[in-house]
Amino acid sequence: MTARARALVAEGHDVVSFAAGEPDFNTPEPVCHAASEAIRKGFTKYTPTTGIPDLKQAVVDKMARENGVTVRPENVVVSCGAKQSLFNAIMTLVDPGDEVIVFAPFWATYSDQIKLAGGTPVVVATRATDDFVPRLEDLTAAITAKTRAILLNSPTNPTGAVYPRETLKEIAATAIRHDLWVIADEIYERLVYGKTHTSLASLGAEIASRTVTVVGVSKSYSMTGWRIGFAVAPVEVAKAMGNLQDQVTSNPTSFAQKGAVVALGLPNETMEGMRGEFEGRRDLVLRKLRAIPDLDVRTPGGAFYVFPDVRPYLGGEIANDSALAEALLERARVATIPGSVFQAPGFLRLSYAASRHDIDRGVDRIAEFLVSLRP
Ligand SMILES: Cc1ncc(COP(=O)(O)O)c(C=O)c1O
Repeated sequence: MTARARALVAEGHDVVSFAAGEPDFNTPEPVCHAASEAIRKGFTKYTPTTGIPDLKQAVVDKMARENGVTVRPENVVVSCGAKQSLFNAIMTLVDPGDEVIVFAPFWATYSDQIKLAGGTPVVVATRATDDFVPRLEDLTAAITAKTRAILLNSPTNPTGAVYPRETLKEIAATAIRHDLWVIADEIYERLVYGKTHTSLASLGAEIASRTVTVVGVSKSYSMTGWRIGFAVAPVEVAKAMGNLQDQVTSNPTSFAQKGAVVALGLPNETMEGMRGEFEGRRDLVLRKLRAIPDLDVRTPGGAFYVFPDVRPYLGGEIANDSALAEALLERARVATIPGSVFQAPGFLRLSYAASRHDIDRGVDRIAEFLVSLRP
């Protein structure tokens, strides 16, 4: 969808894109300065595979300060983006034949990475009426003798769901009871609106000893292209992840790591500016979408996505969510992502990492198109 939207723009069409999975802000200037200084000073060679000591220490400090998780540098693996951190964790923990529970709707990378490791993704659906927060009974019903791990993502891509502390406690207790690993993808941790993000590993030593926490700088600091992500894991797991990475990419880019050190030390106000802007855009997109008849839109508590239920507009001229996303792009010039990509047919994902002007005119186009489908 993103590629098609780009092609249309290149042909001179005016396309509003709600497809992006990345913030539209510039990377903060001090971060850019640190990286360019690092290049200028010749910090352009191999580094230790799992990250430079000052970055690992910065992650340790951040986890203690912001996440309530106490770790040491040996627990930290710095990788080329959170995506590689997830891959390292899954390849390390999942053997062929193992089952890994994922809550739908979910980011498609999870199921593909689990399959790359020879594992089987076991999908546990959540409900829009529960604001896409999983139910304990659905989780326990999915556990079998082959279950190896639970993969969770809060705040969530694509729904923006933020799991309440109570839900996380239930997941933690279940993982402990059934002797499972948990991979907690907390990449959107700083982007929450009126909600509190809780790190799973902060819920006690027992759950921390079986959790790999994945965070990074991509979403929180608008650094998607820098490719720096972090995993925090029990030492034996971190070692194995480091060994794997050693044979795949070696270290993440040296000067990008220097930038990440500065990012993690930025004052809160810098990040608060971006977070606050996203919150304002979320409110705008919600207000506008809710003015469209029969469209159910939950209030996302985090990330930068809304996930409206478009089923009332499907089944006639437009058969399903994929056809709708295509029609919106071809006929209304708005790019969205169909929910089926996230195992949630009948929904659309809109990223509000777009200007307020684009949100305004883009949602107007969607409204006009949807209403035109009605007899
Ligand atoms: C849920 C989720 N986890 C991880 C990532 C990957 O982040 P990174 O760019 O640091 O690899 C993304 C990126 O879209 C994401 O949506």
